[in-house]
Amino acid sequence: MWGGRFSGGPADALAALSKSTHVDWRLAHHDIAGSRAHARVLHTVGLLDDDELARMLAGLDALDADVASGAYVAAESDEDVHGSLERGLIERVGPELGGRLRAGRSRNDQIATLGRMYLREAARSVASGVLATIDALVGQAQAHGSAAMPGRTHLQHAQPVLLAHHLLAHAWALLRDVQRLVDWDTRAAVSPYGSGALAGSSLGLDPNAVATELGFASAVHNSIDGTASRDVYAEFAWVAAMIGVDLSRISEEVILWATKEFGFVTLDDAYSTGSSIMPQKKNPDVAELARGKAGRLIGDLTGLLATLKGLPLAYNRDLQEDKEPVFDAVDTLALLLPAVSGMIATLTFHTDRMAELAPQGFALATDVAEWLVRAGVPFRQAHELSGEAVKLAESRGVELWDLSDDDYTAISDRFSPDLRQVLSTEGSLTSRSGQGGTAPAAVDAQLTALHAQLDAV
Ligand code: ARG
Repeated sequence: MWGGRFSGGPADALAALSKSTHVDWRLAHHDIAGSRAHARVLHTVGLLDDDELARMLAGLDALDADVASGAYVAAESDEDVHGSLERGLIERVGPELGGRLRAGRSRNDQIATLGRMYLREAARSVASGVLATIDALVGQAQAHGSAAMPGRTHLQHAQPVLLAHHLLAHAWALLRDVQRLVDWDTRAAVSPYGSGALAGSSLGLDPNAVATELGFASAVHNSIDGTASRDVYAEFAWVAAMIGVDLSRISEEVILWATKEFGFVTLDDAYSTGSSIMPQKKNPDVAELARGKAGRLIGDLTGLLATLKGLPLAYNRDLQEDKEPVFDAVDTLALLLPAVSGMIATLTFHTDRMAELAPQGFALATDVAEWLVRAGVPFRQAHELSGEAVKLAESRGVELWDLSDDDYTAISDRFSPDLRQVLSTEGSLTSRSGQGGTAPAAVDAQLTALHAQLDAV
């Protein structure tokens, strides 16, 4: 590729270090698409005549087909996908014509563009995997419309909530991830092709023509930025890591819920594993792998950011390290999302157990305090009085609803038997009826809002 000024070839150690075909070969199809677009702009400015363009495009089509079939693969001596495909083109159209395609472009603007093309496609399939996971959560929420569960803070019983409300909380987080991917695409839809090595081209080539042919909205406005920036990759890696974190948080709950102690869910056989020694075991490996792979996705992001942090403008070879983290993130999510969505869709919820536990652990104490507030007591005092009821119930080893009306009036004459209205899970749930609350009617409205946003992405 650069024989002229060198008197010898690279050392084996350099060639081995430099080589990236094992990583960047997945961009071969995009590289050829870029070459077709580039051939057309060379033709537009007269650097290829009609016949040369036709032969060039036919050669690129033949090469593309051979790459797709596996008839053409990178050779041991090829450094990267661009060099290898130039060799493949020259084998098909000869060195005279094949050697013309490199005019006005550099591997620096090529690779920056191909990565964005690849990630834009990958983002679409990641988004559909996330949407399938949201569907699984929504399906379970709809199937358990009125089921209650203990809502927790600090992992302690806090207040009763609807199971649907809890599941939809995860759905909203994942929906924002999808929205992030959509928003990210506006920044990814800008093509660096035409930036050359760093300074643009002197050949009068139109970067926007290439951009349009490759499905971008426009070409970059700064060739240095086009070749040297990888924030678009890093942003993708961040969203991928966030998806990993969101899946991990769901998974951690599934792991807890599937324990004997919680007994909230049973995993489907198809989404659980056994033990080679303990015959009884049914393990939540999908959820554990999701939790584990979140660490890997975070690693992809931080590794990429570490690669970028010290780089002066413009292109530096360090940037070759940009691809493995984002490819790994794409591959990881491609494995993970179908497994997690399948696991969620097939969970069996033990709603009786969840409902029984929902009000326990004095989870209605806030309802008692808020009942007092509605009766005109300042919250500070109401909190105190409800706390005294908790203390009394705890000392007797009973729950708040086990205390008698007399017990309550002995604590304060502000209590009355009316309090019983809120001393139940149902009373507690239905009272939280504002937008975003856990009342059944509010959760219905929430589902409508969620569907509207899902329809909009
Ligand atoms: N393989 C390189 C990369 O992935 C692109 C080639 C640019 N190399 C160069 N020496 N300028 O970033």
